[in-house]
Amino acid sequence: MRRLEGRIALVTGAGAGIGRGVAQIFAREGAHVVVADIDAGAAGQVAAEIVKSNGAAEEHAVDVTDTAQVKKLMQAIGERHGKLDVLVNNAGVGERCDFRHLTDEAWDRVWKVNLDGTVRCAREAFELLRASGRGSVINLSSVMADKHTRQMAVYSATKGAVLALSRSLAVEYAPYGIRVNTLLPGYVETALIGRYIANPMIAKGLLAQTPLRRFGTPEDIANAALFLASDEAAYITGAALNVDGGMGATL
Ligand SMILES: NC(=O)c1ccc[n+]([C@@H]2O[C@H](COP(=O)([O-])OP(=O)(O)OC[C@H]3O[C@@H](n4cnc5c(N)ncnc54)[C@H](O)[C@@H]3O)[C@@H](O)[C@H]2O)c1
Repeated sequence: MRRLEGRIALVTGAGAGIGRGVAQIFAREGAHVVVADIDAGAAGQVAAEIVKSNGAAEEHAVDVTDTAQVKKLMQAIGERHGKLDVLVNNAGVGERCDFRHLTDEAWDRVWKVNLDGTVRCAREAFELLRASGRGSVINLSSVMADKHTRQMAVYSATKGAVLALSRSLAVEYAPYGIRVNTLLPGYVETALIGRYIANPMIAKGLLAQTPLRRFGTPEDIANAALFLASDEAAYITGAALNVDGGMGATL
């Protein structure tokens, strides 16, 4: 029996990187995956890849910062499936610069996607998750929620807020049978950090912060998400799981 057989799973930011990896592994484990991304073409491509490998998927273009669009997405899922078993709040953006040069625009943009997007999806999905009877929300924070990293102040602040929000949601949603957990990845090879790790000097520095001495892959994170989404994690809520090659264990 596959671990997510018969489940409906919504993955935001699933058009690339970690979200794409999560969508693929969830589909392989039997879930019907709702591949949602602001980039409609990328969402369509990932859904098509899944269907081509005999999985079940549908794509939706959505900007998670836009409440009206998020409501519309949940309505479409409700009409088609009547429930949502798994929500992965994965859509996220970064901004690297010295704090004293951080613009209001950059500050607002990162908060809007990383925190407001998570808030809107988790709130608007509530009724569908409740209808599941065993709903699971997985929020993507970062090892940077707990650690200083040079030039990453706004990103770290948003990811710390995601972690705090997840704890509150876990307690508020528990009476409705909905679990809420958080993943804290370290450096994962995706477009988000691709520009930096393409520079051998920077890559060497980042690897030096990672005890396992390799970058994570989207599959590393997706495997942890699969565990949290599955019945194997039925008694786990309010937890934060580092998937970071040991980075969080260092100073
Ligand atoms: N890559 C890393 O090293 C790393 C480390 C820790 C945490 N994370 C977190 O993991 C998540 C995924 O990161 P990634 O590395 O795969 O990034 P990525 O840039 O490869 O992919 C992010 C996806 O989110 C989509 N997206 C952006 N804004 C959106 C919006 N407003 N609405 C809907 N979709 C939107 C993008 O189109 C893209 O497909 C993020 O929350 C990120 O902060 C990543």
